[in-house]
Amino acid sequence: HQPDRYAMPGRLNCSANAVSLLGIHFLPGQYFALAIIIFINNEWHESISGKTFPTYNPSTLEKICDVQEGDKPDVDKAVEAARAAFQRGSPWRQMDVLSRGRLLHKLADLIERDRVTLATLETMDTGKPFLQAYFIDLEGCIKTLRYYAGWADKIQGRTIPVDENFVCFTRHEPMGVCGAITPWNFPLLMLVWKMAPALCCGNTLVIKPAEQTPLTSLYMGSLIKEVGFPPGVVNIVPGYGPTAGAAISTHHNIDKIAFTGSTKVGKLIKEAASKSNLKRVTLELGGKNPCIVCADADLDLAVECAHQGVFFNQGQCCTAASRVFVEEQIYPEFVKRSVEYAKKRLVGDPFDARTEQGPQIDQKQFDKILELIESGKKEGAKLECGGLAIEDRGLFIKPTVFSEVTDNMRIAKEEIFGPVQPIMKFKSIDEVIKRANSTEYGLTAAVFTKNLDRALTLASALQSGTVWINCYNALYAQAPFGGFKMSGNGRELGEYALAEYTEVKTVTIKLSQKNH
Ligand code: NAI
Ligand code: MG
Repeated sequence: HQPDRYAMPGRLNCSANAVSLLGIHFLPGQYFALAIIIFINNEWHESISGKTFPTYNPSTLEKICDVQEGDKPDVDKAVEAARAAFQRGSPWRQMDVLSRGRLLHKLADLIERDRVTLATLETMDTGKPFLQAYFIDLEGCIKTLRYYAGWADKIQGRTIPVDENFVCFTRHEPMGVCGAITPWNFPLLMLVWKMAPALCCGNTLVIKPAEQTPLTSLYMGSLIKEVGFPPGVVNIVPGYGPTAGAAISTHHNIDKIAFTGSTKVGKLIKEAASKSNLKRVTLELGGKNPCIVCADADLDLAVECAHQGVFFNQGQCCTAASRVFVEEQIYPEFVKRSVEYAKKRLVGDPFDARTEQGPQIDQKQFDKILELIESGKKEGAKLECGGLAIEDRGLFIKPTVFSEVTDNMRIAKEEIFGPVQPIMKFKSIDEVIKRANSTEYGLTAAVFTKNLDRALTLASALQSGTVWINCYNALYAQAPFGGFKMSGNGRELGEYALAEYTEVKTVTIKLSQKNH
């Protein structure tokens, strides 16, 4: 597989089922060359410490390969490269903006070319169903890159009327060296959400992918090189959070950091930023997202959206519909239909085209979810189905539905990040608004109703960065995404994200000729 593009051969195991998908020939145990080492200055490096770490396939619990383990000295090297690439007069700084956009389009082209390989790698590393990786994650990457490719030549300042003897204008300049720390639930997509706007605005990058899922980000390194980004513009340092990640958040020579992950680590990153150089910080953190189903809703639609909303990606979504509030008249019917859906959900080999749900990402997440399920049982919620791991099958958990859930229960308060649907009952709109908002999070909310007045009342009253009406997980590269309250800071996607990757400079000029 074009081995000259990659530095180091690795052995990848892949389910034979993948072969049947989309007519590709990707045989189990086949060798192909894959860079599994640190990417700095468009070159492949081993870690300075000589250490490596394993990445696993969570559906088989087999090790896929070892990856070079970056730490502070490797991050320092990457920052140096990114800083040099950002210097005045460098090829990247001198590049005209249209060419910058073309590079982003070309990157999207190469991702389209290698879409099967990338989706396969993502499926092996995360356990998510191959078809979801292919049609959702990769689709999102391509569209996001194309969207920001179009922005590269349209980032404009303003001319500001002031005193008539002065001319005043603004320049929207790149911030400089940006750090990106990404999670394991949508590894490549969360990287592209940061990389595409960062590059379109002319920044350089130091990226640390999640330790559970470094492979697609490293593959991206080879594409960056092939596209022809100047050396140092994108650097990728795989490693652990408290070492490589913290080296980025505490670094004095990084100007901005973008993070997606837990609220706990988000706080650490903001603290590290303020203790070092006050680098700009954008955070996409957790959610405990209300999904409100009114009695007049299209019930089929609401049941299906609430089901997909919480179970999609094994429940490992910051947008998960993990508090379903259902109006009392339709509560029994809604629960009944939701349980039917959950029981039908196909859990299994992510490379099987029929599979809807794969394994959880790792033992830590698996244990956390089962512990929360136990707490739900103990606190008196009614277990309608699931509630257990699937025996002898590693990290797979049965789709679980709880009814009779009350707001004080842990499953109604904590982010579960697993295939668990807690369903609550409500009586009035005022009541549900209050209950939906009584959380420290504020990422997304969904409303199902045919009544325009109710829909718009809820859309204005809910404290969340996104409100979906009669739909779920409707995300677009054009539309901003981010959280109120402890779900985050700043926005990704859309025109709004450009502000997170640019500094505004005001230039004021005094005219020597007096105006007459
Ligand atoms: P995490 O927040 O520890 O991991 C996300 C990223 O942060 C990874 O790249 C990790 O290496 C890095 N990181 C960890 N500690 C760091 C530190 N001290 N400094 C800098 N970077 C650091 O999340 P984890 O432990 O994998 O999952 C815990 C919970 O977080 C999940 O159960 C879920 O509730 C939530 N989560 C939310 C995500 C989202 O999409 N908002 C994604 C992943 C997890
Ligand atoms: Mg893995």
